[in-house]
Amino acid sequence: MSSNSPDRPASGATAGFGPVPDAVARLAVRRWWDDNARDYAVEHGDFLGPADFCWGPEGLREADAHLLGDVVGRRVLEIGAGAAQCSRWLARQGAEVVASDVSAGMLAESRRLDVATCTVVPLLQADARALPLAPSSFDVVFTAYGALPFVPDPWRVHEQVARVLRPGGLWAFSTSHPIRWAFPDDPGPAGLTAMRSYFDRTPYVETGDDGAVEIAEFHRTLADHVGDVVRAGLTIERVLEPEWPAGHDGVWGGWSPLRGELLPGTLVVVCRRR
Ligand SMILES: C[S@@+](CC[C@H](N)C(=O)[O-])C[C@H]1O[C@@H](n2cnc3c(N)ncnc32)[C@H](O)[C@@H]1O
Repeated sequence: MSSNSPDRPASGATAGFGPVPDAVARLAVRRWWDDNARDYAVEHGDFLGPADFCWGPEGLREADAHLLGDVVGRRVLEIGAGAAQCSRWLARQGAEVVASDVSAGMLAESRRLDVATCTVVPLLQADARALPLAPSSFDVVFTAYGALPFVPDPWRVHEQVARVLRPGGLWAFSTSHPIRWAFPDDPGPAGLTAMRSYFDRTPYVETGDDGAVEIAEFHRTLADHVGDVVRAGLTIERVLEPEWPAGHDGVWGGWSPLRGELLPGTLVVVCRRR
């Protein structure tokens, strides 16, 4: 749930669509989250809650959705955890959690929340495409908008998840709903008219005055997501498209009541390792 996304560049950045070399994207994305971790916490911390589990801007809470099932005594890994609010909530439910993220800046925000909440979450700084963890060492792996929108090769994330999950283990992830890619990421009326092909997977890129890539986001169609998961040897059990709840007037980037009432904003997929 980045604040910047298609058509909504950070101030001073130039936004557009174009090819980005993997190595450039890897460094830029990590640096962007390091540099924006504090702003992200300030902008979204209250909505997310310091020790709460929110799947997306619609506000779907794990306390109501129960997508992960009973987690008491379960070994649970969060990837793209950011400030690890979800893991902190799960720890309070009795899960044995590890929260990982590629960004030291985001993990530092987790440390802040540990102090503020007196609930300490074990952290691991790692790229979700190269998890330094043993095979079959977790019962559950999940992410809320972590890693997947920011990597050109998300199938490698699913492959890593399949490797660290024990057989029968559960993987659940939320990410931007693919349909949104065809629309300007504008919370207002301008965001209701399709402007580009849903099938155009050219990355979204923001570049600075010096032309350097500042952040990139990558599009996967629904079929791409399904193919990536199945290719990793995982079986899809559920797909959710949380509806925008009545009375929820919050705006998060391009997510808003106006668009939420007409277009899905989040895709949640629940899978199992065979
Ligand atoms: C939109 S934030 C979501 C954070 C948190 N789950 C939340 O709900 O606030 C995306 C997170 O993904 C992390 N991320 C981006 N690329 C990653 C990668 N390749 N591996 C692991 N984490 C990554 C970022 O550092 C950032 O913390």
